[in-house]
Amino acid sequence: MSAFIVLGAQWGDEGKGKMTDYLAERADVVVRFQGGNNAGHTVEVEDKQYKLHLIPSGILHNEKMNVIGNGVVLDPKALFEEMNYLKDLGVSITPENFIISDRAQLIMPYHRIMDGIKESARGKNDIGTTKKGIGPCYTDKMERSGLRVCDLMNKDVFAEKLKENVEDKNEIITKIYGGEALSYDEILKEYLEYAEMMRPFVRDTSVEVYNRIKQGKNVLFEGAQGALLDIDYGTYPYVTSSSTIAGGVCTGAGIGPTMIDSAVGIAKAYTTRVGKGPFPTELNDATGEWIREKGHEYGVTTGRSRRCGWLDIVILKSSARVSGLTSFVVTKIDTLAGLEKVKMCTGYKLDGKVIDYFPASLEDLGRCEPIYEEFDGWDESIENARSYEDIPENAKIYMKRIEELTGTRISVVSVGPKRDQTMEINKL
Ligand code: GDP
Ligand code: IMO
Ligand code: MG
Repeated sequence: MSAFIVLGAQWGDEGKGKMTDYLAERADVVVRFQGGNNAGHTVEVEDKQYKLHLIPSGILHNEKMNVIGNGVVLDPKALFEEMNYLKDLGVSITPENFIISDRAQLIMPYHRIMDGIKESARGKNDIGTTKKGIGPCYTDKMERSGLRVCDLMNKDVFAEKLKENVEDKNEIITKIYGGEALSYDEILKEYLEYAEMMRPFVRDTSVEVYNRIKQGKNVLFEGAQGALLDIDYGTYPYVTSSSTIAGGVCTGAGIGPTMIDSAVGIAKAYTTRVGKGPFPTELNDATGEWIREKGHEYGVTTGRSRRCGWLDIVILKSSARVSGLTSFVVTKIDTLAGLEKVKMCTGYKLDGKVIDYFPASLEDLGRCEPIYEEFDGWDESIENARSYEDIPENAKIYMKRIEELTGTRISVVSVGPKRDQTMEINKL
């Protein structure tokens, strides 16, 4: 295994941070390839908890290289806040263990502002974004007016491109939305300070990652968000603005598909979602509330409460298909412990027909009725399980059914937030 991918298989927050940290043990390099500081990845090591947004979750291991790839949208302000937060927790960050792509797009103050005013303008049709400027930054990238890290490394180029952008955005902010104009001079001054802090870390990361794979080093690509938030295969428009599926690795890290060996989908034992958009198995009842409290389902980035519902196999099958998943990691199976009965959605009923794929049209999706299978629950002893034999019988039955219905094996089971609450039951 020299290059492998860790991806969210649902709507994000599946435990990618925990699993990346766990799997980083066997990797030399950990690479973020999409998204930005909309992500919130939690890692718990011994009695310390770390909340990561931009910096890869391999950073807590000594001597691993952590990479922000070209597909990431990078907010320098958020980056330096996170670097300082980690330094205060005793984590060392140097160009020996952290590098940034010269092709990554920069999140600018006007992106954050546009994110907020666009959301307000959508009114009741808002997406529920994290307001970190992600969508507006990717919009500029595609529109070809974005500013990249390499631009920031050249004062004159940056100053000129920034001027055009600020003039353009000020027109929109003031004339269309009635907001306040931004100061070009202030942004220039602020970003030129970031430039000097970033300079030692900036590289052509595609070359760095490629060379390491060629040398036989192990590379882990850490996804952010999840398959159902993907710009193409998610519940559009209630999605994020990047490719969160396996294909995103190739464009977002500059690595060809033939260099990737496997892709692991992280799936929570139930389903959660933050922000708006369809959610067929959502539980708007006491059970949903019980799962939220037991699973501490509150957003790492925004603090919003996560919507909770039963596991949805239609989603997992779709994720496995679009990313060619080689296995699933099932997390938070301990959270369901204590429920007398647990349900799993095996398909949808749409206009009298049973379907097992995720419809593109939200109108069709709105008419889908989940079909459930019911399972007997298991007890709290599961959080102490350290091998397959220790897992309660009913939880084994539940997981076997996931494998049967998705046609994809489960490689790892996670029964708590800590590194040691993890067991490998099959080959990754
Ligand atoms: P990510 O965005 O996919 O990295 O996930 P988040 O960090 O946003 O949310 C997952 C939460 O569940 C975090 O608080 C983790 O510490 C926690 N967690 C991860 N795996 C497990 C598990 O197996 N059991 C329990 N109880 N918590 C877990
Ligand atoms: P991790 O990596 C869960 C959601 C937002 C919103 C939509 C668009 O921690 O799993 P954006 O700010 O990206 O334009 O918001 O996507 N979203 C996430 N939900 N986990 C995340 O990241 C998310 N990142 C974005 O709530 O619905
Ligand atoms: Mg998260």
